[in-house]
Amino acid sequence: ADTLGAAAAQSGRYFGAAVVPNLLGDASYSSTLNREFNSLVAENAMKWDATEPNRNQFTFGGGDQIVNYAASRGMSVRGHTLVWHAQYPGWVENLSGNDLRQAMVGHINGVAGHWKGKIHSWDVVNEAFEENGSRRQSIFQQRLGNGYIEDAFRAARTADPNAKLCYNDYNTDGVNAKSTGIYNMVVDFRNRGVPIDCVGMQSHLGSNSNLSSYEANLRRFSDLGVDVQITELDVGGSGSGQANVYRQVTQACMAVTRCTGITTWGITDRYSWRAQDTPLLFDTNYQKKQAYQAVLDTL
Ligand code: XIL
Repeated sequence: ADTLGAAAAQSGRYFGAAVVPNLLGDASYSSTLNREFNSLVAENAMKWDATEPNRNQFTFGGGDQIVNYAASRGMSVRGHTLVWHAQYPGWVENLSGNDLRQAMVGHINGVAGHWKGKIHSWDVVNEAFEENGSRRQSIFQQRLGNGYIEDAFRAARTADPNAKLCYNDYNTDGVNAKSTGIYNMVVDFRNRGVPIDCVGMQSHLGSNSNLSSYEANLRRFSDLGVDVQITELDVGGSGSGQANVYRQVTQACMAVTRCTGITTWGITDRYSWRAQDTPLLFDTNYQKKQAYQAVLDTL
């Protein structure tokens, strides 16, 4: 195969990109997207601040653009993200106790319900752990306690029963304290029947990232019976150093049957959130980088 999406599809995997609705009409952007990728995720358009700026008033325009774009081209869509300590609207800040819990469940019902049946996998909860493996002290953790994550997963299952429900985080690029905290949560959820289907490894990396236990980490999660996905891959750097890290991540996913797909956090360095790190597979002029060839050869 000579595109990322077609190469990934040979083993039943997807290859996706994070996208911005406003750029879908840009010819260079969309031609690269259409040629190379078969899965989309909204870089920002499905976050809480974008979808429920006022309580119970939902705005789905940007997300709908992405979902419709994907549907008309046979691409799958990852949902990102329902509960996160960042990019939530100001009105959430002032809630406490039961009211915050009701708002969280209301948000999940509204958003996951709106796109019911159209989302391949939802990042139900994003970035809820600290580097040391303890819970991040977000407003959800502080005001709702440990149970908020399972409450969110149960609400998401009810709202969209066919979506795979993922927990998603960064700096989980090996067997470390943070990934072990998440691992222990997944063990507990599986033991108690809390619905969880997948774990997303964001994988915001650099050319010097140590990936010696990256594959072992994917494997220990998959051994629990959940899928793993590489959800926000980007690698700062250039040339062979960058290409080698991309190759290692792709190799690790290919080696683990339950690693079902890879998403890069954008298409082109031109619009990357880390633009100065030139972390993506296409340069600012949409030319394929060395890292692109490394990924394509490894899929
Ligand atoms: C980033 C977006 O790329 C930026 O455009 C935005 O300003 C901030 O959020 N982890 C995540 C993503 O889960 O949602 C973040 O996306 C990057 C880090």
